[in-house]
Amino acid sequence: MTARPPHVYVSRALPAPGVGPLLAAGCTVEHRDVDSPPSPEELRAGVAAADGLLCLLTERIDAPLLDAAPRLRIVANLAVGFDNIDRAAAAERGIVVTNTPDVLTEATADLAWALILAAARRVGEGERLVRSGGWTGWSPLQLVGRAVGGADRTLGIVGMGKIGLATARRAAGFGMAVCYTSRTPKPVAEAELGAERVDLDELLARADVVSLHVPYSPEAHHLIGAPQLAAMKPTAVLVNTARGAVVDEAALVTALRQGTIAAAGLDVYEREPALAPGLADLPNAVLLPHLGSATVETRAAMVELACANLVAVLHGDPPLTPVDPLGA
Ligand code: GLV
Repeated sequence: MTARPPHVYVSRALPAPGVGPLLAAGCTVEHRDVDSPPSPEELRAGVAAADGLLCLLTERIDAPLLDAAPRLRIVANLAVGFDNIDRAAAAERGIVVTNTPDVLTEATADLAWALILAAARRVGEGERLVRSGGWTGWSPLQLVGRAVGGADRTLGIVGMGKIGLATARRAAGFGMAVCYTSRTPKPVAEAELGAERVDLDELLARADVVSLHVPYSPEAHHLIGAPQLAAMKPTAVLVNTARGAVVDEAALVTALRQGTIAAAGLDVYEREPALAPGLADLPNAVLLPHLGSATVETRAAMVELACANLVAVLHGDPPLTPVDPLGA
């Protein structure tokens, strides 16, 4: 009797190269080729006979789901974040979890800067004005924002991991000083950028732009709430390309409404795709639909990496980019 080829369930439509790398490696694939999240029932049915699962951050991978997947050996998440996966439950069942780090670092840092510039220079308001037909021509008083760059401006990076560092590097082109928070000192950021490690209170007091780059964890829940917003400069901009629940979104709505801070640029939300009441009405919030890694090149690299992780594990090799079952 010949061995059954490894079987992979893919939970959603994928960008190119799609499931090609899995088929090329001899896997059988059930591809739910639909561009919306599966229901819990669909996901449970999909994993029932699967040796590998390729899922997205929109899917909740918890103990009951894993119990419905007796053959499962690997969960490959198409994202760098993995807060949608119960890592402990996977580890208890001997299931490897992988993510897609590195390949999306530069794209996400670019998007953080798109939000920094858009929020500080009121790009969203300007675009809406032109499209509304209400623009009556150039005015020295119109939509005046704040200068982003200059030696008197500071970028505060909350979480100096790879994306935080890539975002900080871009500040050099704007002549900005950089300060950061991190559990451990980051010698590369300090040597290369002169970045200064400070505690969160000091960062909030000093920074003209606060950019969030911590992974979501229970400790990071509402890391930025009403007291932290109150500690920021009234001229400051807050940017979040990490995870929505790092910010207390209701407190942010109040702070933006009251002018506690000048503006915010958000790519992520506490209850995606829902927004906190009032957020969409605020002119000083730039709102994007979770586009951090959304370039053709990056998405292709993410698919390649997720497939490479699946193929490696299902052929008995170590995963390329495993997630630490216990670490951050
Ligand atoms: C996107 O948010 C990701 O974690 O890759």
